[in-house]
Amino acid sequence: MKAVFFPYLCASAFICGSLVSVAAAPPRIQFSRQVLPVLNRECLGCHKGSAAPGGYSLESAERLFAGGRHGRAVVPGKSGESSLIKYLTGELKPQMPPGKPLPLDTVALIRRWIDEGAKIDGMTAPTEQGGILRGAMPMKGLPAGRAGGAAHGPGASLPDAAKQSAPVTAVAWSPDGKWVAAGGYRAVRLLDPESGSVLHTLAGPSNQVLSLAWSPDGKRLAAAGGQPGVAGEVSLWDVPPSGAWGPPRVLKEHRETISSIAWRPGAAEFATASLDKTALVWDAAAGTVKRTLKDHVDAVTAVAYSPDGKWLATASSDRTAKLYQADSGAKVNSFNHGDGLTALAFSGKGDLLVTACLDKQVRVWPVKVGTVENPLRGHGEGEAVDAMAFSADGGTFAWGAINRKVRIWNGEVSNHKRELNDCPDWVYGVALSPDGKRVAAGAGDGKLYFWNTEDGKLLRTVPLGPVAAAVVLPAGGP
Ligand code: HEC
Repeated sequence: MKAVFFPYLCASAFICGSLVSVAAAPPRIQFSRQVLPVLNRECLGCHKGSAAPGGYSLESAERLFAGGRHGRAVVPGKSGESSLIKYLTGELKPQMPPGKPLPLDTVALIRRWIDEGAKIDGMTAPTEQGGILRGAMPMKGLPAGRAGGAAHGPGASLPDAAKQSAPVTAVAWSPDGKWVAAGGYRAVRLLDPESGSVLHTLAGPSNQVLSLAWSPDGKRLAAAGGQPGVAGEVSLWDVPPSGAWGPPRVLKEHRETISSIAWRPGAAEFATASLDKTALVWDAAAGTVKRTLKDHVDAVTAVAYSPDGKWLATASSDRTAKLYQADSGAKVNSFNHGDGLTALAFSGKGDLLVTACLDKQVRVWPVKVGTVENPLRGHGEGEAVDAMAFSADGGTFAWGAINRKVRIWNGEVSNHKRELNDCPDWVYGVALSPDGKRVAAGAGDGKLYFWNTEDGKLLRTVPLGPVAAAVVLPAGGP
């Protein structure tokens, strides 16, 4: 039936091809110039991050094709089988974007791009610079446009988008304080926090790095991410005593992207949380899975160990956080929330669990066995918090939110100390120096921001630039 509206789309590429050679055919759709700007403007505000709606993130070519909960969104050459189109036309409900369907000619253009083979010529419009969809990034769960901001609102122009590079989606400060690791598209950058210089670029991850963690002894670095709908991926590096870094060891057990990774203090163990609804506990030495936690009924979005290594906590889009005894793997508690969870962290003493939720609340729970009806404290934050971290000394707590704010609290999360507003883009990752005196935030504009937590002064802004030369962009789609 759609062929009625788009008669120039031939079912057979062969016939099409022969027609094209005789008649003057319309030029092929160019993804980066014609489709990507629409996705950036109309979709990416919601469809991003580890808690993307419907499990559908548009942050990379792989994700764009893989789709979400309902499977493949783009079937190259077959717009009729691509659920992306069905959601745009309203054949599948709810019609996308919610409440403001795209003009028919825009839908036709996307349809034609799929029928022409869904080739990806670049993921940054209009040049092939970054490896990830960039552009308008309003707040999660809100219609595009609410966030305002000239370079980010729905009116963001192509030249603006072209200047941007891949977001910094994970940040981790090494236990000795000497390194800050920043995760981007297919690479981890290692910076000297004193000078802000990038000392190493570690290649290896096959997609966006969504979480980073140093082992508590500082001898290893883990980066997590993966290919949506295909496999989660952990890249493990041994920290060399000096000089060059070797290639990572790559571990793949999850069936979906890993959103979060954490090491267990005092044990050769780490845990991963995945969109495949499970959390895995790994033997870090052997690289094998020790335990599979299957208590969540939706994507697991965050995982953390208490500083004494006794407790393991998970957070999920299923609106709960769960607490486990790390030794036995026994589930001892479940904390109910008003919406999906995005982040969680244990306090320095390990007696508090802080959770971030899409209902825009930050909650502080007592870490204990048995039911907890209400959190100790709730902080309404205006917008959903995406990333949180305590300093290793436990005295400072920081979170970053989608409204581009970083907030600093005391170690009990009872006293709000400071609000840092210098970051012009969505904050994806925060990390504190071990002494809690500095905070680093990774942002959607591809930069790392460093502040002094005591006086709130912005110390440094480090642009990580476009994706490193070592990083190969996907050519021509899957
Ligand atoms: C205001 C936020 C918002 C915007 C903007 C938005 N979506 Fe969605 N999208 C959602 C939500 C929420 C769902 C989940 C709906 C459900 O399952 O009930 C969803 C689901 C989907 C799904 C189904 C994924 C799956 O497998 O379940 C597709 C495909 C999709 N959106 C595509 C798009 C495209 C393409 C655009 C831009 C043209 C867009 N969306 C814009 C919020 C949004």
